[in-house]
Amino acid sequence: MTINTTVREAGFLPASRIASIGVSEILKIGARASAMKRDGKPVIILGAGEPDFDTPDHIKQAAWEAIQRGETKYTALDGSPDLKKAIREKFQRENDLAYELDEITVGTGAKQILFNAMMATINPGDEVIIPTPYWTSYSDIVQICEGRPVLIACDASSGFRLTAEKLEAAITPKTRWVLLNSPSNPSGAAYSAADYRPLLDVLLRHPHVWLLVDDMYEHIVYDDFRFVTPAQLEPRLKARTLTVNGVSKAYAMTGWRIGYAGGPRPLIKAMAVVQSQATSCPSSVSQAASVAALNGPQDFLKERTASFKRRRDLVVNGLNAIDGLDCRVPEGAFYTFSGCAGMLGKVTPDGKRIETDTDFCAYLLDDAHVAVVPGSAFGLSPYFRISYATSETELKEALQRIASACTRLS
Ligand SMILES: Cc1ncc(COP(=O)(O)O)c(C=O)c1O
Repeated sequence: MTINTTVREAGFLPASRIASIGVSEILKIGARASAMKRDGKPVIILGAGEPDFDTPDHIKQAAWEAIQRGETKYTALDGSPDLKKAIREKFQRENDLAYELDEITVGTGAKQILFNAMMATINPGDEVIIPTPYWTSYSDIVQICEGRPVLIACDASSGFRLTAEKLEAAITPKTRWVLLNSPSNPSGAAYSAADYRPLLDVLLRHPHVWLLVDDMYEHIVYDDFRFVTPAQLEPRLKARTLTVNGVSKAYAMTGWRIGYAGGPRPLIKAMAVVQSQATSCPSSVSQAASVAALNGPQDFLKERTASFKRRRDLVVNGLNAIDGLDCRVPEGAFYTFSGCAGMLGKVTPDGKRIETDTDFCAYLLDDAHVAVVPGSAFGLSPYFRISYATSETELKEALQRIASACTRLS
């Protein structure tokens, strides 16, 4: 059901630009799981898109001090000078990228940054290439901006990564953007320098195509994976690359709502025009907190990532021990995206046939009381996403329940 049908039923005529936007599968599952919890069922929800850690104390303290200093008024439209300076340092220190302050923008979460970028650049019918599985907002934002998402399936056989051949084949004269996300929500897959290289070579041949990279999970990478970002790898693309990042996931600051990007000046200016009529500046207090996050100690990131890695290994091993599931080891983020093709065609104890990943996830919720999200919500089936940003105890219990529910299928 789309938002359009829902609101039409209430006798309201919505704008055509939101006509094809569906109500998020993630929200639907979350609502059902919460309702079951309220009814006393012991539901474990593995759907969270945020770290289970708290915002570090020194960041909270910086926010409090900003309030005390009276920094409670509007700031500069697309970011205070202090925060832009901290972001400039961050890009230089961690990504070897030099941006001037007017090549940096700050918004109310990375989501607003993405929205500003699309709203500022897309004309009706412009195409945006999005590899699947994708973070659900990408395609919805493009559609709200009256663009056309061009979805390219990138399954486990290619490590959930876009290949040069697929990218080349998808580019048309109408292509405006390619959106890449590394490490990815939902697959956890990340692009190394070698993975990026052939894609960047394709883009060099198509000067009308711009690149938006979402580096939100930059700090959550495992083993010996080395994070890199395209503008750093290929300076010739920097003038048409928007490098998006934020404090939400690395610093456990999802509720503070600060995202940012570095990119070419004219684009940054156009994005500020959008933001000026949508929200004005991001929260002044959250900006002060983000300065402390970016300039302050970074050592806790390693500890937190080590904790995520233990949980990743627990979940990947637990899932791969179940007949019919196939879980690739993700390089980063806090999600697994596991294949469930082996479950299709099986029958539940009460006689329902599992035809899709959505059916499989519904069965896990009903039978095992574990809420996970089907791949269909991220544009690629048959898979399901687990967020392991929850305690090891809960993860162990959830894995046992999933395993036992799977053995009850015939
Ligand atoms: C890949 C990705 N990009 C961006 C965001 C949005 O981040 P923010 O909370 O800063 O809006 C998310 C949040 O789930 C995400 O998963």
